[in-house]
Amino acid sequence: MIGILDSGIGGVTVLREILKQNIHAKFIYYSDSKNNPYGDKSEDEVYSIVKTIVDYLLDMGCVAIVLACNTASAICVKRLREEYPDTLFIAIEPAYKMVHDYNPKGKTLVIATEGTINSEKFLTLFNKYDNKNTILLPCKGLAELIEEGNDVKINQYLDDNLSKYRDIYNVVLGCTHYPLIKKNIRRVLGDVKFFDGSSGVSKELVRQLELRGITFDNKSFSVDFIDSSGNVSKENRFMELISSDE
Ligand code: DGL
Repeated sequence: MIGILDSGIGGVTVLREILKQNIHAKFIYYSDSKNNPYGDKSEDEVYSIVKTIVDYLLDMGCVAIVLACNTASAICVKRLREEYPDTLFIAIEPAYKMVHDYNPKGKTLVIATEGTINSEKFLTLFNKYDNKNTILLPCKGLAELIEEGNDVKINQYLDDNLSKYRDIYNVVLGCTHYPLIKKNIRRVLGDVKFFDGSSGVSKELVRQLELRGITFDNKSFSVDFIDSSGNVSKENRFMELISSDE
């Protein structure tokens, strides 16, 4: 079994990419909407929340855990790998290197939570590939609005916070919730090119499973969904999003 966790349903954008890889495993997706947002919490708080979920997923029999949350990855993955040396952790990060590979000089906007943007992990990556033409914008509260699914509030938020960046070419979606609002972002910024880490993470998962000789003998895959706030509507929305390209 493979565990996937996020502070809500946003990690579905990562799961969708993973499912394209034809890994015949059982997946268990843990949506921690009770503790959303992670992005405004202290590092110790996020670590302790994520560790509890990791323990739960390991008890359920997971052999690999995907941190489908940039904030949790940025804050926790190093410590988790030290504390659980036998567990395979796959972590996502803002796809800033992709900008360097595809369009190194273009004016770039990186949007993510405060926790991700201020993390040592992200700043190390950013300093390595800094194209001197990039704006780092923490979007406090945006993941919560996406979690809530209120389009009017999302559009208002984007108008208030993004409309001054109209000359942007590249937008790095540094939070797994943000690929769900690409259309809303284009409404404000026009025809920008998006970059996110979900495809890279799914390929890294396959690579690491192969490297460790981990195989699954199910005929196809299945996905179980758990939400920490017990909200039934979350599961319905999550299941719809798995198969949509929203
Ligand atoms: N999906 C999480 C991320 O990628 C949301 C962050 C939050 O809960 O604040 O960072």
